[in-house]
Amino acid sequence: MDSPFNADVLKGKVALLTGGASGIGFEISTQFGKHGASIAVMGRRKNVLDDAVSALNSLGIPAVGFEGDVRKQEDAQRVVEATVKHFGKLDILVNAAAGNFLISAEDLSPNGFKTVMDIDSVGTFTMCHEALKYLKKGGQGRSSSSSGGFILNISATLHYTASWYQIHVSAAKAAVDALTRNLALEWGTDYDIRVNGIAPGPIGDTAGLSKLLPQEINNKMRENSPLYKVGEKWDIAMAAVYLASDAGKYINGSILPIDGGLWLSKPRHLSKDAVRQVSRAVEKRSRAAPVGIPTSKL
Ligand SMILES: NC(=O)c1ccc[n+]([C@@H]2O[C@H](COP(=O)([O-])OP(=O)(O)OC[C@H]3O[C@@H](n4cnc5c(N)ncnc54)[C@H](OP(=O)(O)O)[C@@H]3O)[C@@H](O)[C@H]2O)c1
Repeated sequence: MDSPFNADVLKGKVALLTGGASGIGFEISTQFGKHGASIAVMGRRKNVLDDAVSALNSLGIPAVGFEGDVRKQEDAQRVVEATVKHFGKLDILVNAAAGNFLISAEDLSPNGFKTVMDIDSVGTFTMCHEALKYLKKGGQGRSSSSSGGFILNISATLHYTASWYQIHVSAAKAAVDALTRNLALEWGTDYDIRVNGIAPGPIGDTAGLSKLLPQEINNKMRENSPLYKVGEKWDIAMAAVYLASDAGKYINGSILPIDGGLWLSKPRHLSKDAVRQVSRAVEKRSRAAPVGIPTSKL
């Protein structure tokens, strides 16, 4: 689908995206680029980075890839600095890198739990921490008149309730949401940096969906979803463009669930016809009951 936004809403911005070379992250890279931003993508696999950069360049988007692991502070520092060296500044940091797999709490080793916490939560904090000096108002590489930069953390909706076989990702994404709100408070106040989050539901054509929702579960889930479909990477990327652009200039500390309302969904126990019949029967009984004595209609 075409973007509803003007092509220049991110003109002149420089964005660094962890996990920006694949899946949802890559779609955000692409849409940021199509809306005027220059793009740096970070990840561990060189071939994935190379493919992403070629694809972005073929769309006329200035792009560069940096190998690095968000769990390593020295990698985070090196990649942030390399981005600033390459493009001259940093305006936007997107933390989309994550680890995920389905496993019961009983079968998950503490080390497996820690790995996901390290990538999603500690990795997000490390990247924010290393990027601060470039993102803050008056920071290195920013003109004195420009405002502070923008951070977007990608979490999930899994931890809004509880999710089967996702204890590690739920805990890690809950921590990411806490980082988003706390940094919005501290760095919004001190440095004019806006920090927001997007919490995607199941998004089609991604590694996340195929790993976390095998087809059998996917089909079942659709029956209970308010909009009866999985989302598209485009849905996440458009929200990211909106939040990163001036249209989002007063949005700070918000975490936008984009899941078609799925996290609110519950199985429907009664059809609408059945509920109408029950209501009529209850009303009839209540009218027939002696007046004057307070009784419950149920
Ligand atoms: N897909 C969904 O339905 C869904 C739903 C809710 C939330 N999300 C969130 O959306 C984001 C993108 O998910 P996706 O499904 O599009 O997955 P994906 O394509 O697997 O993206 C994950 C990216 O993170 C990078 N990455 C992983 N570990 C890293 C590390 N230690 N250091 C640097 N980069 C690392 C990966 O590249 P390398 O392996 O090359 O490092 C990859 O590019 C994730 O935060 C995910 O939790 C997705």
